Amino acid sequence: MNERQIAPADGKLGVLTVGLGAVSSTLIAGVELAKRGQADPIGSLTQMATIRLGKRTDARSPLIKDFVPLASLDDIVFGAWDPFPDDAYVAAQRAGVLESGKHLEGISDVLREVRPMPAAFDRTYVKRLDGENTMDSVDKRAMLDAIREDINRFREEKGVERVVMIWAASTEIFIEPGPAHQSIEAFEAAIDANDPTIAPSMLYAYAAILEGVPFANGAPNLTVDIPALRDLAVERGVPISGKDFKTGQTLIKTVLGPMLKARMLGLSGWYSTNILGNRDGEVLDDPESFKTKEESKLGVLEHILEPEKFPELYGDVYHKVRINYYPPRGDNKEGWDNIDLYGWLGYPMQMKVDFLCRDSILAAPLALDLVLFSDLAQRAGMSGIQEWLSFYYKAPMVAPGLYPEHDLFIQLTKLKNTLRWMMGEDQITHLGREYYEDV
Ligand SMILES: NC(=O)c1ccc[n+]([C@@H]2O[C@H](COP(=O)([O-])OP(=O)(O)OC[C@H]3O[C@@H](n4cnc5c(N)ncnc54)[C@H](O)[C@@H]3O)[C@@H](O)[C@H]2O)c1
Repeated sequence: MNERQIAPADGKLGVLTVGLGAVSSTLIAGVELAKRGQADPIGSLTQMATIRLGKRTDARSPLIKDFVPLASLDDIVFGAWDPFPDDAYVAAQRAGVLESGKHLEGISDVLREVRPMPAAFDRTYVKRLDGENTMDSVDKRAMLDAIREDINRFREEKGVERVVMIWAASTEIFIEPGPAHQSIEAFEAAIDANDPTIAPSMLYAYAAILEGVPFANGAPNLTVDIPALRDLAVERGVPISGKDFKTGQTLIKTVLGPMLKARMLGLSGWYSTNILGNRDGEVLDDPESFKTKEESKLGVLEHILEPEKFPELYGDVYHKVRINYYPPRGDNKEGWDNIDLYGWLGYPMQMKVDFLCRDSILAAPLALDLVLFSDLAQRAGMSGIQEWLSFYYKAPMVAPGLYPEHDLFIQLTKLKNTLRWMMGEDQITHLGREYYEDV
């Protein structure tokens, strides 16, 4: 198999986070600690996972970061936008995810250097927030131009070779794809008309693509998942991916759901509820933002279980997802799942999962991997939707007409096979006949 031409990861990689809240500040602090050897980047495939190459008997399993030419953590430089003026040190303190004495004080100088640029922010789209570090205008053309200027200024001031942008900002209100999103011409006209279906996140994504910057969407907003921007990304050679980091409850759902299906066990109901008390929880307390999240969380089971093919097993599933804002828990989310399943001859059973997780501790390594893989994809000449990054998302973006692959282990296989394909290695099919035949 031929190896793809991949440009080397020379020079610095600028990482622009939209939003400097819990996830971004935890990401930045973690990368700085890992650079200094003061903490392990646990949960990150790019830093810790291996990839098997060739036959099981070949014993070739390099680290992914030794196999594909990824940017080194030492070359990453961060920048951000946020409607609150807090620098990354203050943002991390405020988010309360990391222990200050253990993980923030020692790197406070670098964290203080990441000061958010004024955000392209409009309260219409995130009702529960009101920050003062915003651009002067909510005129959409003015915001777009200002984001593009920010990208270029950041590039120059920090002397970075390449830039990647990641949306780790609040979940915007629910917007359905409409006429303004169908072509670049319609999208451009809608910007000039200040059409309400053009959300700030779309302006960030558009600016990124126009500036040749890969864009990853960690929230469930529509953002870059519209025909106009998907097509433009292909045309401009820019990788895009989304939506919504798959961190806690949905991660579990996309492991247990495929298990039920694999064993042909029936499902009558799946009730999922969460309590969390961070700023994300506060924003999601607004019904319009919650609706965006709900759509992203609900789609998963439908695609995994395929009720139309198995009506006797999955034709009548009651699926409910709730998120409750409960300040005392902060970022330490608790996610409960009650699963009502049935087996042989229809006998009912129950399964309960109680995941006492830490939202941003789970999300930060995904953000790091997305940044590094998006940069790799661009250097490998891969543009448009990066379906191989579905592994990281609750509602993976796919080409029109395709259903998304939600099963975590199919997603992992897809990711690793893409890396093998990039490097000209054989795909691993898991057939395994060769071990039992004289070859
Ligand atoms: N942590 C997780 O496990 C997880 C999982 C999936 C998705 N997400 C999503 O990731 C996003 C970030 O989560 P978080 O916990 O860091 O939230 P957070 O509230 O701590 O941080 C988000 C930040 O974005 C800022 N912001 C809002 N609108 C903005 C705009 N237009 N431009 C720039 N900044 C803006 C807010 O001021 C805030 O500081 C949320 O949308 C969340 O739903 C998080």
